[in-house]
Amino acid sequence: MSAVRKPIGVFDSGIGGLTLVKALVEELPSESVVYFGDTARVPYGTKSKSTIVRFSLENVEFLLRFDVKCIVVACNTSSSWALPTLRKYFKVPIIGVIRPGAMAATRRTRNKRVGVIGTRATVESRAYETAIARIDPAVTVSSQSCPLFVPLVESGWLNGSVCRMITEQYLDPLKQQGIDALILGCTHYPLLASTIGQVMGEGVALIDSAKETVAEVRGMLMGEDLLCDQHVKPRYQFFVTDEADHFTQLGEQFLGRSIRSVERVNHR
Ligand code: DGL
Repeated sequence: MSAVRKPIGVFDSGIGGLTLVKALVEELPSESVVYFGDTARVPYGTKSKSTIVRFSLENVEFLLRFDVKCIVVACNTSSSWALPTLRKYFKVPIIGVIRPGAMAATRRTRNKRVGVIGTRATVESRAYETAIARIDPAVTVSSQSCPLFVPLVESGWLNGSVCRMITEQYLDPLKQQGIDALILGCTHYPLLASTIGQVMGEGVALIDSAKETVAEVRGMLMGEDLLCDQHVKPRYQFFVTDEADHFTQLGEQFLGRSIRSVERVNHR
């Protein structure tokens, strides 16, 4: 297969990375995608760095079986803790979601106060703080972990009074800090964007890391002469490590289109 026609590999701890695939399909409609969701071991956001790194290494090894031309780490938690190790061990270009989100937030903020929300592991890693400090040291970052958001989204509670109450409770400290840009630093949070937007108010720009990452993928592929801009029918393949049924049903919400087939696999 020509290098251009090779698929893009995407992995996540589970279903959430489909928000990134949605952006990928919209922005780069000729690209084929192999998606790997580690649904048997989700969530990663409550796990330690060493576990997250080990799982991420195994996920990349799985995707390499498909001769992918690059790998996108859709999971913020994996991107936060594992990206340097992945880049050290593998030659294939690997793109994470942290830097693109950080770049977009520093571009958007006017008052140089940025908020980040994510899983506990992402917030503990301080990966967004580090990335933002490299881009613009004058920006101050306030972070908040929102552990109930992932189960809320997976239960389909995207709005309503309970969702609103939890969102207010989590975001109140960030409002107090006067931030004007908020990074949705977790695969699931774009689905809560409407409630988050209502709670934060119009003056706060919501940054969807997944969307920003797709722009970086495009730039990288163009730079490497690997962008598939021919009129070809792309192929989408989905693999998970637990039962496929739940993934297929919920996944259609994340992806915004139907998912034809999902295969259950082992890492080895
Ligand atoms: N995919 C994870 C992330 O973006 C959220 C779910 C999990 O905790 O594994 O951080």
